[in-house]
Amino acid sequence: MRSVDDLIAEGVSGRRVLLRADLNVPLDKTTREITDDGRIRASLPTLQALRDAGARVIVAAHLGRPKGTPDPQFSLAPVAARLGELLGTEVPLAADVAGDDARAKVEALADGGVLLLENVRFEAAETSKDDAERGELADRFATLADVYVDDAFGAVHRKHASVFDVAQRVPHYAGRLVARELEVLTRLTTDPERPYVVVLGGSKVSDKLAVIEALLPKVDRLLVGGGMCFTFLAAQGHGVGSSLLEVDQVETCRRLLAEADGRIVLPVDVVCADRFGADAETSLTPADAIPDDLMGLDVGPLTVDLFTAELVDARTVFWNGPMGVFEMAPFQAGTRGVAEAVGAVDGLSVVGGGDSAAAVRVLGLDEDAYGHISTGGGASLEYLEGRELPGLAVLAD
Ligand code: 3PG
Repeated sequence: MRSVDDLIAEGVSGRRVLLRADLNVPLDKTTREITDDGRIRASLPTLQALRDAGARVIVAAHLGRPKGTPDPQFSLAPVAARLGELLGTEVPLAADVAGDDARAKVEALADGGVLLLENVRFEAAETSKDDAERGELADRFATLADVYVDDAFGAVHRKHASVFDVAQRVPHYAGRLVARELEVLTRLTTDPERPYVVVLGGSKVSDKLAVIEALLPKVDRLLVGGGMCFTFLAAQGHGVGSSLLEVDQVETCRRLLAEADGRIVLPVDVVCADRFGADAETSLTPADAIPDDLMGLDVGPLTVDLFTAELVDARTVFWNGPMGVFEMAPFQAGTRGVAEAVGAVDGLSVVGGGDSAAAVRVLGLDEDAYGHISTGGGASLEYLEGRELPGLAVLAD
């Protein structure tokens, strides 16, 4: 895999570089303001290095999941503004993805200048399953640039036009963020220092089954919290009230618990509420006695103590997924407590992207306490599952 530093060494001044970045940041539902700019900041080292080397940088990115057509709700305008602030320069936003306005604005780029293309998912072809459709969009991307740099680690598991197909059309390089993410994930998969403890949370157990299957033979302990723990608790025969439950996964969870032979650790107490809301009435219940009319929305303090004890001697930790609905104040103590225990580990601690990375920042925790905070939730999980990631495979080609 050639790196952006190889490209800079070759000489990139005056060349048009299409830089795929993952700028998919969370926005406030009402104000559309960015609530966590971590991914934008993580993209800066590659971007700045290219600018310093005199490249004309054309940034391509997605935001949310629009339906393949322009939708102002998903415009990258707030991202262009924040990127400009962080870089200390104006970052114009093209009105389209790879159309007339993008072409005109690329023409106008000066050496060291930066242009952001509009949300690549405004083109249905970006995410199409049809190779020819994606290819047509990738052709248009390719005419905008001389070379392609992929720094969008969070999107490397997507076989999308701006991630996969365009790299087949122009000389391609991996950005510094992609290189750093791979270096850390390789340490997790190649002979990790033990005890190796994985903490998984998040809402849907079905999203995590593949990674649990892949990790179970490799880890010393697997701590499970978040909405997904209720399907495991049900598999142990407990009632879970009106908590999130994936009935069709109960059997699989039962099998995994048996295979794990005590290495899967589940919550022992749960913060319950009478409904899903920040102003709901809350109560603390044992995890094996959740009343029928209540739903669990966070792990309780005894669970935080238990998980902390399981983490205290760990030398390698990977954590993905919040322990509860941390966006609402009454249900954030579990995520905060477990995040602190992960940060206190004396060894390699990796926060696996997405909501858990956002939780570290939104809860005001010390980012420096962690060995690495990944920008890719789905991407890092698929990497740990051992799947081939199209965006990486094409860069290595
Ligand atoms: C993410 O948020 O994990 C990445 O930006 C990928 O987004 P996606 O899941 O919508 O493809």
